[in-house]
Amino acid sequence: MLATVISAAVSVIIPKITNNFLAKPDGFTNLSNILNLAYILISLQIGSGLFMYIRNLTGSMIGVKVEIEYRNKVLKHLLELDMSYYEDRKIGDTLTKLISDTGVIGENMQSIPLTILSSVVTFFGSIYVIFSLNWQLSLIVLGIVLLILVVSILNVQIIRYLNYKWRKVYTDVNADITDRLSTITLIKSNATEKTENERFFNEHLKYYQAAKKTITFDSFTRALLITLLTGINIVGLVAGFIFVNKGMLQPTTLIAFILAVNTLIFPVIQSIVLLGNLAKTSTSIIRVNEILEVEPKIKTKDNALAVNEITNDIIFENVNFRYDDKEAWILENFNFTFEKGKSYVIIGATGVGKTTISKLLLRYYDPAQGRILINKDTDLRDVDLAQYLHHIGYIEQDPQILYGTFAENISYTKQGATLDEIKAAATKANLHDYIQELPNGYNTILGERGINLSGGQKQRVAIARIF
Ligand SMILES: Nc1ncnc2c1ncn2[C@@H]1O[C@H](COP(=O)(O)OP(=O)(O)OP(=O)(O)O)[C@@H](O)[C@H]1O
Ligand SMILES: [Mg+2]
Repeated sequence: MLATVISAAVSVIIPKITNNFLAKPDGFTNLSNILNLAYILISLQIGSGLFMYIRNLTGSMIGVKVEIEYRNKVLKHLLELDMSYYEDRKIGDTLTKLISDTGVIGENMQSIPLTILSSVVTFFGSIYVIFSLNWQLSLIVLGIVLLILVVSILNVQIIRYLNYKWRKVYTDVNADITDRLSTITLIKSNATEKTENERFFNEHLKYYQAAKKTITFDSFTRALLITLLTGINIVGLVAGFIFVNKGMLQPTTLIAFILAVNTLIFPVIQSIVLLGNLAKTSTSIIRVNEILEVEPKIKTKDNALAVNEITNDIIFENVNFRYDDKEAWILENFNFTFEKGKSYVIIGATGVGKTTISKLLLRYYDPAQGRILINKDTDLRDVDLAQYLHHIGYIEQDPQILYGTFAENISYTKQGATLDEIKAAATKANLHDYIQELPNGYNTILGERGINLSGGQKQRVAIARIF
């Protein structure tokens, strides 16, 4: 901020110094006078440049920090949200907000306050300078400037609205692409590349249309405002000539005056650009907050009970459960005791709710009514969820594989496990022999979502994780 103020202040005083030199009786005729002025102005300009460098450097670094902090905050929140958040949203939508919108925020978070600061300094500094040179001429200039500022503030409201719509379409397109690319095998196995290409093309047409509206409006108003602003120079000059003609102004003062008007225009142009950026940033903040405002439905209580082991029955007691958007109960008045030490197999028609039972045991969701008890009498809602899950092994039919090595994937459930432990787990899961024969063994990279593994191998990785 200090660097901003200094750099801005220097640019403001240059016309004033120029005027002081030119106002001397021999101002123009004495060459050494002019050279002195040149030295001073050049040094000031270099000084101003130096401070501008400091401002840009520190400012941009702050911007990056803000972006990272914002991202971490959103990411932390996303991890805290329960499964229901992810079920009715496309992942690409969340990704765009997480990556692109936080970027917009970070970039502008530093530049906006600094630009306001430097604009205020240069604006009021220049106003002071022009008024000290000639107040009548200054009034004319100031009138036009204020009019332009009012118009640009109104302009921002419209840009904000258009921009929000544009970002929405942008998110939709990104979400669509992410969705399709993550189901690439479906596309490949059905040879739908051509239709997908056409779909992408059409999606981008919508994007193009939305962008066009915003850009057309923004470009026009920016050009208009900036043309008007630079026109102030001409108005100042012509009015100045008339003032000189009437003997109300010295020609040398007019030079300083026009210099000062130029310094005045700069912050106004900056403000116009800034107002546009402000609109964009506020759009991005609104969008990121759409994530941050979602409250996780499943939360570990502050006074949660510790679960050191699961040594007793697991009981479903009068459990009623349905998914958010569904009318019908999946489980209705469900009573069942999983007895200690026994193995259970659940058989039933597709879609009756077998998997739902295991999801409830993982506390992806809470029952609407009734209780799920572990260790015979502890309500699942009262326990420390992370600690409880530590005692649970869950293998999905389509197990999740991370991009990374076998070793990393197997040790995911026990961070920092030794290679021996990993090998022992893989052996129990009947996977060790296969891995050992690979040239890179446990360091073999598994593609995204385990694309280079067989279905059975994926499941074995998941089983090894549990061990
Ligand atoms: N996340 C969800 N949101 C909304 N409805 C869901 C969700 N998951 C499952 N359902 C619905 O709940 C019902 C029970 O699903 P569940 O996965 O428990 O069935 P299942 O008995 O395991 O079936 P299958 O034998 O096919 O695996 C189904 O009708 C399903 O459509
Ligand atoms: Mg199932």
